[in-house]
Amino acid sequence: MGLARTALLWISENRALRRALPNYRFIRRAVSRFMPGEELDDALEAALGLQRGGIRTILTRLGENVLDRRTAREVTDHYVEVTRRLRERSVDSYLSVKLTQLGLDLDEALCRENLERICNAAEDVDTWVWIDMEQSTYVDRTLEVYKEMRSRHRKVGICLQAYLRRTARDLEGLLPLSPSIRLVKGAYKEPASIAFAKRAEVDRNYLALSTTLLETTPQGAIFGVATHDQALIDRIIAEANKRGAGKSRYEFQMLYGIRMDAQRRLAGEGYSVRCLISYGSYWFPWYARRLAERPANVWFVLKNLLS
Ligand code: FDA
Repeated sequence: MGLARTALLWISENRALRRALPNYRFIRRAVSRFMPGEELDDALEAALGLQRGGIRTILTRLGENVLDRRTAREVTDHYVEVTRRLRERSVDSYLSVKLTQLGLDLDEALCRENLERICNAAEDVDTWVWIDMEQSTYVDRTLEVYKEMRSRHRKVGICLQAYLRRTARDLEGLLPLSPSIRLVKGAYKEPASIAFAKRAEVDRNYLALSTTLLETTPQGAIFGVATHDQALIDRIIAEANKRGAGKSRYEFQMLYGIRMDAQRRLAGEGYSVRCLISYGSYWFPWYARRLAERPANVWFVLKNLLS
């Protein structure tokens, strides 16, 4: 792992910096590149704009490691309200949630209860709920919660991380459930004992997992190819074509503000593209992970300091 990436991921997990850094105006200016605004209305406006251009969306309210029951319930109420707003404004958007935002660190039963409420509300407006994957210490519990939700809900998906050595095994374990999987490379700081450290190894695993997903994702489920890596995207499209898997068998999921050109191009070519829009005030750790993915982004932050 590069030094800059390690440092940025350390910053993302440091409590004091998590509190202090977001107060600097130049950092707040720089983050606007990756989020249209802190309010749900900002996200809905952006979603409608993208929808008009053929790109649908995924909404997530930033937050993680919630430490009291009241906040976990408040987040849940918020997502239920989002489903109402989606219907009201005719926005075709999935929801994406972190289990630690719904209380996983406090009480797993509470977290399941909160997620169940969100899944029920999403079902009422016929949309999907996606469960993010967080640090490796949460993987087992996240998989268990997903399995339970999947037994009652069809439109629920889970994120798997190609950088973890265990993921091929985890995927095998999920296949009997006809899962919907969002495949990502992985955004956290993980030791080499459990995660591939070299980029080429992560990419190789991503491609191998994608091949399995192209072959096993049934009708009605979704394989979300969640990467901005053009070389991987090209190879996955080629693998899909080789297998006669049409454009409806997978969809591209990317982040707001990253490779928007590619998102527009793929949508123009008839692929399903979903752009994940983040909003909310608790954006610092998430933003630091975006910087870690591409340490060159730090120059962008510094430019905002100087301007
Ligand atoms: P890679 O990092 O190799 O980037 C490929 C290219 O994309 C770069 O060369 C650059 O052009 C562009 N790019 C990528 N990141 C950029 C950035 N921050 N700024 C500017 N350009 C950038 N992770 C996780 O652990 N758990 C999760 O639940 C999720 N959820 C999730 C949902 C969705 C829809 C996406 C797209 C991603 C996630 N991730 C995630 C994040 C994921 O693990 C990963 O860190 C990022 O997607 C970056 O990796 P890429 O696959 O894009 O490749």
